[in-house]
Parts: sequence; structure tokens; C-alpha cells
Amino acid sequence: MASYLVTGGAGFIGSNFVRHTLAHTEHTVTVLDKLTYAGDRRTLEDLPEQRCRLVVGDIADPEVVDELVGSHDVVVHFAAESHNDNSLREPWPFVQTNIVGTYALLEAARRHDVRFHHISTDEVYGDLELDDPDKFTPSTPYNPSSPYSSTKAGSDLLVRAWVRSFGVRATISNCSNNYGPYQHVEKFIPRQITNVIDGVRPRLYGAGLNVRDWIHADDHSSAVLRIIEAGEIGETYLIGADGEKDNKSVVELILQLMGQPADAYDHVTDRAGHDLRYAIDASRLRDELGWRPQFSDFPSGLADTIEWYRSHEDWWRPQKAATEARYAATGQ
Ligand code: NAD
Ligand code: DAU
Repeated sequence: MASYLVTGGAGFIGSNFVRHTLAHTEHTVTVLDKLTYAGDRRTLEDLPEQRCRLVVGDIADPEVVDELVGSHDVVVHFAAESHNDNSLREPWPFVQTNIVGTYALLEAARRHDVRFHHISTDEVYGDLELDDPDKFTPSTPYNPSSPYSSTKAGSDLLVRAWVRSFGVRATISNCSNNYGPYQHVEKFIPRQITNVIDGVRPRLYGAGLNVRDWIHADDHSSAVLRIIEAGEIGETYLIGADGEKDNKSVVELILQLMGQPADAYDHVTDRAGHDLRYAIDASRLRDELGWRPQFSDFPSGLADTIEWYRSHEDWWRPQKAATEARYAATGQ
């Protein structure tokens, strides 16, 4: 039994990991979360108080971080500004949280010699051509495109330097696009589902040919737990479940699953610098750590996700109007 400090545990994937850890281990969890627009304490409300507590605070605040890191066995670092479109509108919070925040956590992990797992993204590798036979591997050169992905790349490089220079006991994982319950309605899949619920046509950026490699958040969580338990210090593990789909096909599937005509969507202004394709080769995770994803049927996982948004309108409704107002300002 260990004590985990989970940063960003009131967000989409962090909260999924907290649930997964409580369900599959005896560990206790402290969530450190600033509760930005993307964090919601209600997401953690039904969890057992004796095993899970929430501390509201900023990962870039060295005092808060030092005390918390020093009193836990493992830091699992999810907290980030996570949305590309926001990073194009206002990059500064991405630099502050993703780089300065990760630095503060690493310094505390170094002082207290605490095991550290850093959550990152496949976007650090840039993008692939649609017909490129190669996928991202741990040795693909970093080539991030957006303010979001460049700050995540910067945070990964800090982790690597703290391992090599100071002996911090850290691992890194870079995962592909997640879907599932509790995802903020600014993101592609929940935005389109909640638009359809509201009688609004889904919005596809550009031609919609961009490809994302979808994985259910439950599979991301099981992979992270496996890496913390069995991963080699200093190593990078790519997490993916062979889920490549172009955006147009995903919108059409959402419409079909929600009983709408498959062409009932609009093309809108493309994202600046829009990455074309991501694809993950997760063979290290599969071969060395024996991890396997449980969700291989995307239409079925998507149908369950649609059902979750239909039955949890009280959770997402407070986010919706402000999110759409931000998109309206850029014609998206
Ligand atoms: P999210 O935006 O849903 O949640 C982020 C959480 O971090 C929120 O609860 C927010 O309040 C908290 N937070 C933000 N700034 C903070 C700060 N300064 N101090 C403390 N807490 C702060 O994000 P997500 O989609 O759950 O992503 C979680 C992590 O996974 C991120 O590191 C992201 O880069 C990574 N990731 C996401 C995906 C994806 O598809 N969403 C894929 C791969 C990797
Ligand atoms: O690849 C992992 C990354 O996946 C994570 O690191 C990020 O935190 C996460 O947000 C996600 O980034 P994307 O930019 O790929 O996700 P997003 O949901 O914003 O968009 C998915 C695709 O859908 C992308 O090609 C843009 C497109 N899109 C998005 C929105 C919001 C649309 O066509 N219409 C939309 O309304």
C-alpha cells in the first residue's frame, strides 16, 4: 500500500486515474488541483473520504508542492493546461503551469527523493503524413507544433534532465487522444455530442481529414498504473490502442449513434497549424510490461460515452455556454 499524490486529479484523465487506482489497489490518493475552468470537485464527490482527499492548490506554488510531495510515496503528474485551441488564444498559462509547474514538482521530488511519473502527450512528436507507414516510437525526435504541445515537450525534457542530472526516479508516458466520461465539453468528442443534444450541428475543422489515435481513458489509466508498478526508471513509454480515425468519420459515427443524418454537420475555420495525424506504436508497453487495452471496439465505447453525456447533463451544462462563446469568437 502506498500514498499517491495525483496532480490534476479533478480533471478528465486525472480523475479517471484516481478512480482506477482506488478500485484496483489499496493505495490512498491525495489530489492536488487548482480547480481551473477544467477542474471540477464534483467529479471526485462520490469517492471514499478515508482514501481520497482533495487539496486545492497550484503546482507552480513551491511551498504547497514541497509539503505535499514530501509526504507521499509517488507523484503522478497529470495537471496541465491541456487544450490546443486555448493555447492559440492565450499561451501564457501553458508556459506557467506546464513548464514552471512541472519544474516546481521536480525540484520537490528531487529534494525528497520521491518516485515521479510524468503524464505527457503524443503531440510532442509533431505530426505524420496520412500515408506514413511509421508510427511514433520513444525514439521519434521531438517536433511539437502548438504552444500546448511545445510546453508539454518542454516539461518532458525537464523530467529527462532531472533524471540524468539529479537521479530523480522518474518515468514518462506519452499517450494519444483520450475519450470517455468527464471530458470537458471544449474537446472534440464531447463538444459534438453536447451540440447534438442541444440541437446544434457539429463543427468540423477544415476538411476533417486529420487523424487522431483514440484510446479510452480507462485504458490510459491502467497503462499508467502498470508503468508506475513495473516501468524502468528514466524510460519513456508510449500509450496507444491502435485507434486511428479521421475526424470526419468520428463526427459521422456520433451523428449515426445519436439518430441523426450522417451529414448533419458544418465545416468551420481550421485550427492554425493543425497537426495532420498522430499514431502510436505502443509495443514497448505491450512487450516489456505486458499491458493490453480493454476497449478495442470504438463504436461501442463511443456509444457508452454518448449515453454518459445524455445522463450527466447536470455535470457538463455549466461549462457549455462559456465554451461555445470562446469558440464563436474565432468562427469555430
Ligand atoms: P484537463 O484539462 O481535463 O484537466 C487538467 C486538470 O489540471 C484540471 O483539473 C485543472 O484544474 C488542473 N490544473 C490545471 N492547472 C493547474 C495548476 N497550475 N495546478 C494544479 N492543477 C492544475 O486535462 P486532461 O485531458 O485530463 O489531461 C491530463 C493530462 O494528460 C495532461 O497532462 C495532458 O497533457 C495529458 N494528456 C491528455 C490527453 C487527452 O487526450 N486529453 C492525451 C495525452 C495526454
Ligand atoms: O494527442 C493527445 C492530445 O489530444 C492531448 O495531448 C490533448 O490534451 C488533447 O486535447 C487532444 O488534443 P487534440 O487537439 O487532438 O484534441 P481536440 O479534442 O481538441 O481535437 C481533436 C481533433 O478534432 C483535432 O484534429 C481538432 C478537431 N476538432 C476539434 C474541435 C474542438 C474539430 O474538428 N472540431 C472541434 O470542434
